[in-house]
Amino acid sequence: MSAEHTAASVQALNIFLNRHKIGTIVRTPGDFNAFSFDPAYRATGGYPILSLSFRAANGGLRKDPRPIAGSLPAFFANLLPEDKLRDAMEKHHAGRVRPGNDFDLLAALGADLPGAVRALPGDGPDLAPAKATQTAPKARFSLAGVHMKLSVMKNTGKGGGLTVPLGDGDGDGDGDGDGDGEYIAKFPSTAFPAVSENEFANLALAEAIGMEVPERELITRDQFDGIPEEFETMTEGRVLLLRRFDRGPGGQRIHIEDFAQVFGIPPARKYEGAAYHDIASALSIAISPLAALEFVRRLALSVIMGNGDMHLKNWSLIYPGDGNAPALAPVYDLLSTIPYLPADDLALSLGGERAFKALTSSRWKAFANRAKLPEPAVLKAVVETVQAVDAHWWDLPERAVVPGAVLERIDTHVRTMTAVLVG
Ligand SMILES: Nc1ncnc2c1ncn2[C@@H]1O[C@H](COP(=O)(O)OP(=O)(O)O)[C@@H](O)[C@H]1O
Ligand SMILES: [Mg+2]
Repeated sequence: MSAEHTAASVQALNIFLNRHKIGTIVRTPGDFNAFSFDPAYRATGGYPILSLSFRAANGGLRKDPRPIAGSLPAFFANLLPEDKLRDAMEKHHAGRVRPGNDFDLLAALGADLPGAVRALPGDGPDLAPAKATQTAPKARFSLAGVHMKLSVMKNTGKGGGLTVPLGDGDGDGDGDGDGDGEYIAKFPSTAFPAVSENEFANLALAEAIGMEVPERELITRDQFDGIPEEFETMTEGRVLLLRRFDRGPGGQRIHIEDFAQVFGIPPARKYEGAAYHDIASALSIAISPLAALEFVRRLALSVIMGNGDMHLKNWSLIYPGDGNAPALAPVYDLLSTIPYLPADDLALSLGGERAFKALTSSRWKAFANRAKLPEPAVLKAVVETVQAVDAHWWDLPERAVVPGAVLERIDTHVRTMTAVLVG
C-alpha cells in the first residue's frame, strides 16, 4: 500500500469555492485541525462568501478560527454526513478513513460536498490541488442528515436508471466537478412507515401555498443501478428523489450553507445551539425582513403540519450568481413527525416554547420581539399560512399517496393547530 492510501497521510486540505481558492486546513501533530484563509482571499474582503460565520459584523473577514483538537471547525464538520450515512461512508472508505475522524472523512469526500465547497488534498497553502490516487473508484458524495441517502445521476441513455457517481466527481477532468449527482435519493426507514410519501405530500403542500420547493418524485428501488453494498438498506417502500438546488444545469455548483454553519455551531448541537428567532434575525439582517417573514411562513407550516424536526441543519442560505450575497434556500426535509412521535414538539424554541399546542399568538409576539420583526407582520404571516393550508391541504392530490393511518394523525393535528394558531 502506498503512502497516499493510509488514513493519516493527507496533512493539508485546500479549500475551494468553485474555482476560487479560499484557504487551507492543516492537520498538526496531536490531531489539531487549523483552518486559515489565503492572503489573496482575505484581500478580496471575503468574496465570494464561504460562510456568514466567518464575517465580522462591520463587514470583512474575522480572524482565522482557533485550531480544535480532534474535530474540524464547525463550518467544515457540518459538511459531513451524520449517523448511519456516516457509518456507511466510513465503511466504504475503510483503510483511508478512521471511524469518527472528521479530517479523514473530509479528505475522502472533499470532491463532492454540499454547495460549492471542495476540500482537496494539497501539501500546503500555495500548491495546486493534487488528485487523490485511488485503487478503485469510490462514491465521494457528502450530504448531511441522518437518513440513508445517495447523491445520484439520471442516466439519459439505456432505460434512464439512476446511478451513484464514482470517482472524483469531475467527469471531463477540467476541475469544475461536473458529473456529480444532480439528485438526492432519500431512502425510507422502517421506524417511520411511509416517510417518503409523507414528505412528498408535505412538499406538495408547501408548493401549493406558494413556497419554493425542489422538483421531486417517488420512485422504486429497481430504478437504481449498482448501489455499492455499504449503502444498501433493508427497508421497503418508495424512495423520494429530489432535484438538488445546489447543482445547476450541467453540474455547476451553487453554494449553500445551513444555519448550524451560519452560527458556527457543531452538528451535534443542531437541536439546541440557537432558537428560531436567531434564524429570523439573521435572515432579516443578511437578506431582508421579507426573507425573515418567508421563514415565519415556513415555520408556521411546520407547526401546523406537526413537523418537529426543523433543527438548524434543515434551513439553509443559498448564494446564487456571483456568490457574493445570500438568499433563503428552497425548503427541504419537510415532513410530519407527529404521526410517528405523538408527543413530539418543536426542534428549536419559538418565543421560549417548544410544545405545539402552546404556540398561541403570545408566543409568536415574543418570537417577533426577539427577532426584531414587527408583531403585526409576523401574526399576519402566521394567519395567512393557516388559511392557505386550509384552502389547499384537504383537496391536495398528493394526499392520495399517504396511507390512511398516517394521514388521519396529520389531519387531527392540522385541525388542532388551526384552532390554536387563529384562536
Ligand atoms: N433538494 C436539495 N438540494 C440540495 N441539497 C439538499 C436538498 N435536500 C436536502 N439537501 C441537503 O441534504 C441534507 C440532507 O437532506 P435532508 O432532507 O435534510 O435529509 P435527512 O432527513 O436525513 O435530514 C440537508 O441537510 C441539505 O443540506
Ligand atoms: Mg435534515
